[in-house]
Amino acid sequence: MKSVAVYNNKGGVGKSTISLFLADFFATMKLAGKLSRILVIDLDAQNSSSNALLGIKTVSEARLNKQTISHLLFKLALKEKTDPDPFLIKRLKNTTPNRKKPLCELSVMMTDRMNSLSFEKKCTKTGLKVLSKKLKSLLNEKFDFIFIDLPANIDERNKLSQLGLMLSDYILIPTEPSRIAINSLPDTLKNIQSISQLSQKNFQEPGLIGLLLNKTDKRTKQYKLHNKDLSEFAASNEISIFKNFLPHSSTLCSASDDSISFGSLKDRYDNNYEHVRKVSMELAGKIGFQVSKK
Ligand SMILES: Nc1ncnc2c1ncn2[C@@H]1O[C@H](COP(=O)(O)OP(=O)(O)OP(=O)(O)O)[C@@H](O)[C@H]1O
Ligand SMILES: [Mg+2]
Repeated sequence: MKSVAVYNNKGGVGKSTISLFLADFFATMKLAGKLSRILVIDLDAQNSSSNALLGIKTVSEARLNKQTISHLLFKLALKEKTDPDPFLIKRLKNTTPNRKKPLCELSVMMTDRMNSLSFEKKCTKTGLKVLSKKLKSLLNEKFDFIFIDLPANIDERNKLSQLGLMLSDYILIPTEPSRIAINSLPDTLKNIQSISQLSQKNFQEPGLIGLLLNKTDKRTKQYKLHNKDLSEFAASNEISIFKNFLPHSSTLCSASDDSISFGSLKDRYDNNYEHVRKVSMELAGKIGFQVSKK
């Protein structure tokens, strides 16, 4: 199992959208002849990625039925072994005949504001370390890839977000080629480093997998102006920048619209299909997976 947190402390750079894209594409990839098993952990109380993957009706039902990550963590705090299945909400494969690249099965674990606040009030730092270890070992057997969608503006009070960073093997930082986005990067790195202060023995710090440019048009003056600064920032912090990028496009904007029902990757990504596929394949390579296409 490999887990990738998608995090930038700046809001609106595409964390949820990119978590959704990666989950959709990785769900169609095969590992040793079998479709890979995917989980999205949505740690943002806005539920953007859960809503886009499951629809708002399923998300609100799951929240009413107490099928959130906080409920699972409360149970895990009391018991050594807890069945995570009731907290894993499935999106089933689209089985409409003759559909090219249908959306494949995946699972989502979500949060909600009320319960995450009560979890965060009660959970101690030590408790958090124990719970992240327990949760990781429960999920390890069930999934090949976990994508963790983190909220913006996190600090030490946001224990669920810290848990998300502790669960992750890798962190991907979406950003944009703009001054305001570049200015937010030092804070983002500082927050990531701060979780190493929470570390315990045998706790493997997550690896920074790279900066992924989103909403990018390489022909613009803005890109040319800021790309140099971004490259310098990346080099001085020893972070790579993904070779592939995601353009600014209305298709990619509406791809996460939970009022549209998409049945296939082609429906959702349309003329940007290749961009999303290439980013997903680049990530797979970076985390050491040789995947065959479905
Ligand atoms: N490549 C893109 N082209 C056009 N619009 C995009 C692109 N990527 C994301 N968006 C849009 O930008 C907005 C912000 O994206 P998203 O919600 O994924 O960002 P976020 O970083 O998760 O935000 P938050 O910090 O609020 O969680 C959304 O309306 C989304 O549809
Ligand atoms: Mg988001």
